[in-house]
Amino acid sequence: MSFIFRLFAILLKRNARNSVSCKLNKSISREFPLVETDGMPLKASSFGGSFSWGVASSAFQTEGAPDVDGKGKSIWDTYTRSGKKNRNIEHASDTNNFYYHYKTDVRLLKEMNFGSFRFSLSWSRILPKGTGTINQKGIGFYNNLIDTCLENNITPWATLYHWDLPQSLQDKKGWVNRDIISWFEEYAYLAAKQFGDRVKNWMVLNEPMAFTSLGYLFGVHAPEKHGFRNFIPAMHHAALCQAIGGRVLRENVPGCNVGTTFSCSVVEPIDNQPKNIKAAARIDAALNRLYIEPLLGMGYPVNELPFLKGVSKYIKEGDFERLKFDFDFIGLQYYYRVIVKHHRLPPFNAIEVRPAFRGVLTNEMGFEVYPKGIYKILDKYSAYPQIKKIIITESGVCYMDFLTSGKVIKDYDRAEYHQQILSYILKAKNEGIPVDGYFVWSLTDNFEWGEGIVPRFGLIYIDYHNQMRIMKESGKWFKKFLMDKE
Ligand code: FCB
Repeated sequence: MSFIFRLFAILLKRNARNSVSCKLNKSISREFPLVETDGMPLKASSFGGSFSWGVASSAFQTEGAPDVDGKGKSIWDTYTRSGKKNRNIEHASDTNNFYYHYKTDVRLLKEMNFGSFRFSLSWSRILPKGTGTINQKGIGFYNNLIDTCLENNITPWATLYHWDLPQSLQDKKGWVNRDIISWFEEYAYLAAKQFGDRVKNWMVLNEPMAFTSLGYLFGVHAPEKHGFRNFIPAMHHAALCQAIGGRVLRENVPGCNVGTTFSCSVVEPIDNQPKNIKAAARIDAALNRLYIEPLLGMGYPVNELPFLKGVSKYIKEGDFERLKFDFDFIGLQYYYRVIVKHHRLPPFNAIEVRPAFRGVLTNEMGFEVYPKGIYKILDKYSAYPQIKKIIITESGVCYMDFLTSGKVIKDYDRAEYHQQILSYILKAKNEGIPVDGYFVWSLTDNFEWGEGIVPRFGLIYIDYHNQMRIMKESGKWFKKFLMDKE
């Protein structure tokens, strides 16, 4: 178990920070670099008028206010109050206090010239027990947030589920229990009816592979469950809910543009030896194909991952059809590349060659900084003929930030990262790949799950002592860059 744990925890970019060296702010004093595509300066207008420019966030990572106005507990409230003091996770409840500062934050995203805001709904804020009684104050909070976006000409994009399951549902085994389907349907229906008059852009799940494996296989994230006996049913039920949630939203939101999101990693073998190529194919199946292929009617990738045959125990008649849904767009979220080689230990028979051993540039969490990967990911996913449209629903980098006495954060490396990523997206777009949106992770620094408040991804710096918001140089770069958007 510990080997598998290590492999996956590393592949899924969590808990690897201690053992690697970061190469940070290598050019802290330089001005914004000019990234060129085909010899031309990068321009927002080149992406076209329909391209969505946004920032992304999630409820648990930003809202705070865990016990106010009738909110119920989520599994992340339980996890962060369990007494563990690593990486300051116990401060989750007041990291950003977006619940109180949402107006300022929406104003800041407008100031940076973004047109869209992706946020998630906290299930336990609107249904404190997960089902049944509705918390009107929770509904009121999201109404205010949505109205604030619209008043500022910002298009809201809502995610139904970004990992914060109501604790009451986890008490009944959460994603492992097939009843999650009806619980989720009830929640999706309520969200559609309450907010669908104003929110037209929806995402069902955030990165199902991440939350089911980290939370139900390796137990490093909430709700800290282990083993295939938890993971396999949780995986199947999440795959069902992604499609079912899509159907509920489409049926109940007039003019709905509905998608769902996937974590994606570039997976490459260390060399061309057949055994290493096969090892990479197995990891690719786990990280990139597990949730999208059943959705597209292709079933689970059991050839590469024979342990998935265990899912047959949880499949009910009609599930193959139930797993399918034709989303309007697919949300891809890319952060890093993994290089793998064969290893004798099952079930994956693969191990990562860690970035620290490869001498490549890493971010603060120890993952390779590899902007070109986004082009490879777009190329890979666009090969599925069923995908009509792709939105990059998250992309970002954590580097250490230093607040100078003049209240400036010279995060030129973060700005450069986004510029490089964007130039690869434009290349893909110009080659005919249907990518039509970019959401920066994240609007503000926030609570980074098991890593606590240490890694910072935001375009806006948060001073956690006094909640002061300071636009980083990367945010100022976007402000300038997006002035030219159509
Ligand atoms: C993604 C998550 C998001 C955030 C970023 C850094 O995997 O969806 O909540 O933690 O990583």
